[in-house]
Amino acid sequence: MTYRGPYKIRVDSKPDPRIEHPNDAIVRVELAAICGSDLHLYHGMMPDTRVGHTFGHEFIGKVEEVGASVQKLKVGDRVMVPFNIYCGSCFFCARGLYSNCHNVNANATAIGGIYGYSHTTGGYDGGQAELVRVPFADVGPALIPDDIHPEDALLLTDAFSTGYFGAQLADIDEGDSVVVFGAGPVGLAAARSCWLMGAGRVIVVDHLDYRLRKAETFAFAETVHFGEVDDVVLTLKKRTDGLGPDRIVEAVGAEADGHVLQHVTAAKLKMQGGSPIALNWAIDSVRKGGTVSVMGAYGPLFSAVKFGDAMNKGLTLRMNQAPVKRQWPRLLEHIRAGHIAPRELITHRIALEDIAEGYHLFSSKLDGIIKPIIATVA
Ligand SMILES: NC(=O)c1ccc[n+]([C@@H]2O[C@H](COP(=O)([O-])OP(=O)(O)OC[C@H]3O[C@@H](n4cnc5c(N)ncnc54)[C@H](O)[C@@H]3O)[C@@H](O)[C@H]2O)c1
Ligand SMILES: [Zn+2]
Ligand SMILES: [Zn+2]
Repeated sequence: MTYRGPYKIRVDSKPDPRIEHPNDAIVRVELAAICGSDLHLYHGMMPDTRVGHTFGHEFIGKVEEVGASVQKLKVGDRVMVPFNIYCGSCFFCARGLYSNCHNVNANATAIGGIYGYSHTTGGYDGGQAELVRVPFADVGPALIPDDIHPEDALLLTDAFSTGYFGAQLADIDEGDSVVVFGAGPVGLAAARSCWLMGAGRVIVVDHLDYRLRKAETFAFAETVHFGEVDDVVLTLKKRTDGLGPDRIVEAVGAEADGHVLQHVTAAKLKMQGGSPIALNWAIDSVRKGGTVSVMGAYGPLFSAVKFGDAMNKGLTLRMNQAPVKRQWPRLLEHIRAGHIAPRELITHRIALEDIAEGYHLFSSKLDGIIKPIIATVA
């Protein structure tokens, strides 16, 4: 997969990736996914997305080659690869902040490395490809356990782990009411995970009917269609004793719909790094003293976030790119116990040759799409 400019994706031949450092491995990709985050790249919203870049930060595959220093992996191993690239030994990695590794991204100090996510996250080619170079091969990747379905393993490399992390950061106490903004794969996974953490109520907000139906069947959630109520904030408060929900997970990000002016200043005029409307709805609706957990991705600069209200309400705002490997031990246990089956989010299985169609469907939310995955081997 190569990026050719906004809304343009092509399948090209590139030179095979090589071992560039003794800690590298080369992985032959078996399954990859398209993430909602890839849509920000596809829409030309993320800076320094270069023509020719290969996207893809959710993938599993087979180890094809290992560098001289790699000790834990051997050729032929089947691995799940977290979307984060990280060294495992810097100040931040030592504290579990894998997504904030200090050694993998020469282009930014805020964020570490991510596969296939533009040069702002290091410029590494991603996994929507047949082969991918995996740096620090002993650190991120893990063997796929024999009893775990490959499609479940795939969704643990980002979407499901991120949703679970979003629920973790929401500080849910037993019986709490939780609102999740966004019924994409991340929001649905977050909504489902809230129950595992003791939530008493889960309400999902979106404006796509088919995704709200999925929130009911997959995440056992109540739903609010923000296009069908006069005032989404008021609706949420009314539904939660007038005070507002205890916790919110924001799983929408910078391309939120629902406010024309925000959309114009962000997407058209490029005056800010996206529309903060979902974030503002979260700040407005959560009860005083509550927590907002932000999983949605944003560009660096914003002008219209209701920060003063967040301060005056005494909110706790928590956020990060998910350090997904931290979530794996618990999530693997939940899968084994039958509590979750992340692969139930998958709606489309697309061949790598047809990936442009996958981006188009996912971007335009056509054909009931929730989570498209890419198979590289027939
Ligand atoms: N923090 C992380 O580590 C991480 C990891 C993966 C994805 N993300 C981000 O999470 C977000 C969601 O990802 P996804 O794969 O689920 O994407 P997605 O595009 O499939 O889902 C986004 C959903 O939000 C809905 N939406 C739009 N405006 C809304 C609003 N104002 N209120 C409520 N819902 C609204 C859309 O209809 C859509 O269903 C993206 O911003 C993505 O970049 C972050
Ligand atoms: Zn992602
Ligand atoms: Zn590090």
